[in-house]
Amino acid sequence: MYICLCNNLNSKKVDYALQKGVSSTKKVYKFYNCKPKCGKCIDLMNGIVEKESNKAKAL
Ligand code: FES
Repeated sequence: MYICLCNNLNSKKVDYALQKGVSSTKKVYKFYNCKPKCGKCIDLMNGIVEKESNKAKAL
């Protein structure tokens, strides 16, 4: 599934960044050397990052 169309980031890429220890939405873009452009993906991205960090806390 595409998360960020502007930067060509799909859920696989976002998951990968999170696995590598990326812990915030901003850092996901940084990890792929890009920046949010239109901003439409921010809410979705926040949701995913939050879900992942909660999972990590639960472990
Ligand atoms: S879809 Fe991510 S910045 Fe536009």
